[in-house]
Amino acid sequence: MLASIPRNHPNQRRKRGADDSVDDRETPADVFDPLNAEFKFTLDVAAARHNAKCARYYSLPPKPYANADVRQLVMFPERFVGDPDALGLDGLQQPWPSNEVVWCNPPFSDIEPWVLKASVSLATVVMLLPANRCEQPWWQKWIEPWRDDRSPNVIIETRFLAGRRCFKNRGLAITNRTSRNPPFGIVIVVWDRRPWDRKQS
Ligand SMILES: C[S@@+](CC[C@H](N)C(=O)[O-])C[C@H]1O[C@@H](n2cnc3c(N)ncnc32)[C@H](O)[C@@H]1O
Repeated sequence: MLASIPRNHPNQRRKRGADDSVDDRETPADVFDPLNAEFKFTLDVAAARHNAKCARYYSLPPKPYANADVRQLVMFPERFVGDPDALGLDGLQQPWPSNEVVWCNPPFSDIEPWVLKASVSLATVVMLLPANRCEQPWWQKWIEPWRDDRSPNVIIETRFLAGRRCFKNRGLAITNRTSRNPPFGIVIVVWDRRPWDRKQS
């Protein structure tokens, strides 16, 4: 079953449990913009109102809705129509159909369900992942055997980016103690299911 509750990397989880500062890393514009120009994303499947990269996005339900807000929701449901943050639509529980070009920078605390979902979906999916965890099962099982022409049946492209990018959490830069940049590089993984003619444009 696909897990939907954000979890930290097992080592981190043992120490401090789920942590929004691990999961809420906004993609830097110098990474996202060229990819968006190339793929023209239609849907951001892992987002929140403050960091969504597409007009259409899925986000976790607010935790938990304050009583006053629940009353508002019950009394004035029309105010919440079209606001994906009002109730939250879990990106792992929604379909990613073939007409979507999906952008996904998943919660790094629990990567495997997102990689699995991209593997079994029909959409074109472009996913930002940490490049320093390729020994882990989610990479070894769902990406390594299929990537970069290793299998005739599955087309997964990997792009390892140069340098390290500085992510932001609710507008503030995330840094480690000794460096301005986080201690990992990035790999972009592409499940390219666009029709041939759309790849040319
Ligand atoms: C790494 S951030 C990416 C933010 C933004 N989409 C971007 O690319 O910069 C991951 C976001 O996914 C949200 N998220 C976590 N689990 C989710 C789920 N099951 N469905 C939708 N969004 C989720 C987190 O709250 C967080 O805002």
